[in-house]
Amino acid sequence: MAFYNLLSFFPLVLFILSGARFSVRGLSMGYYGMRCPFAENIVKNTVNDALQADPTLAAGLLRMHFHDCFIEGCDGSVLLDSTKDNKAEKDSPANLSLRGYEIIDDAKEQIEKQCPGVVSCADILAMAARDAVFWAGGPVYGIPKGRKDGTRSKIEDTRNLPPPFFNSSELITMFGQHGFSVQEMVVLSGGHTLGVARCSSFKNRLSKFDSTRDVDPTLDSDIATKLIKTCNAGDNAEAPFDETRNSFDNSYFNALQSKAGLLSSDQTLFTSPRTRNIVNGYAMNQARFFFDFQQAMVKMGLLDVKEGKKGEVRLNCRQIN
Ligand code: HEM
Ligand SMILES: *[C@@H]1O[C@H](CO)[C@@H](O)[C@H](O)[C@H]1NC(C)=O
Ligand SMILES: *[C@@H]1O[C@H](CO)[C@@H](O)[C@H](O)[C@H]1NC(C)=O
Repeated sequence: MAFYNLLSFFPLVLFILSGARFSVRGLSMGYYGMRCPFAENIVKNTVNDALQADPTLAAGLLRMHFHDCFIEGCDGSVLLDSTKDNKAEKDSPANLSLRGYEIIDDAKEQIEKQCPGVVSCADILAMAARDAVFWAGGPVYGIPKGRKDGTRSKIEDTRNLPPPFFNSSELITMFGQHGFSVQEMVVLSGGHTLGVARCSSFKNRLSKFDSTRDVDPTLDSDIATKLIKTCNAGDNAEAPFDETRNSFDNSYFNALQSKAGLLSSDQTLFTSPRTRNIVNGYAMNQARFFFDFQQAMVKMGLLDVKEGKKGEVRLNCRQIN
């Protein structure tokens, strides 16, 4: 009997432990509840207004948060502008056409008016990415808050971002270094259900632009023909990852099944026996994709967060205080 009682408390104990883990890091779901009660609403309304005007920016916000977290942790470093003496992450060629900075600036300005010096840029970006996913039709989920902003943003750190020509083993290794499982790497790649890539990111797969190799055999030949046409317009011409670039859905995984993945790093997830079944699972079951995606996003949002005195709350997201 006593044993059963203990067991029935087990979920509660786990819950308390996981809560404690967050608060050890200084993060919690209700972090701004007392400190700045409207912060979360301001971000949501700002994101909704901006996406109403330009739905393609949902992709920009999601990608910006990913880049922020993979370089030096989720500390808003991706938002910093270069200065006279420092070339910031932003100015890397890998910066990749990051988009949506104005939305963060706008939310920050409104929040500063209500609660000066309280809400970090890293948190605003994390909330904005979350709201963008929901706006585009994806899952809704809560994220712990209380990140502080970092003071370092170096162009050379961007080499920690995965390049588009990585194969699945290389992706597994790189995401593994950040503590992600194979399944989490695949589900996070599902972020490519939103947005576009430029020809410079995928022309390696089109023989016309790279005479050292034939058209990538894992790319459908009709699609290759179409992409070559697109890329005749130059390196900055864009192609969508899937047929619904502004909808957060599982059509990205369906595209991989029909050899329509855009980047090498997308298609490799289906080509490789190590990840193919995971792709098939998400292609078949969108609810499963949504569920795993939100969990992996919460985890990504906790990468090397700076809490307490390890960082600051920037007054302007583009420069350190
Ligand atoms: C798995 C490794 C990944 C690689 C190699 C990769 C690479 C890329 C590349 C090359 C682009 C296009 C850049 C351009 O040509 O302008 C891109 C776009 C994008 N990435 Fe990733 N990415 C990866 C993972 C992720 C993750 C984990 C997320 C978010 C959860 C994400 C979200 C996005 C989004 C939303 C876009 C579209 C941006 C837009 O339309 O403005 N990516 N990615
Ligand atoms: C990205 O990097 C290129 C240089 O490689 C630069 O010209 C461009 O302005 C940068 N984009 C952003 C948004 O900073
Ligand atoms: C992935 O790329 C690495 C480095 O180029 C190579 O050693 C490895 O064999 C490749 N793996 C697969 C499965 O193609």
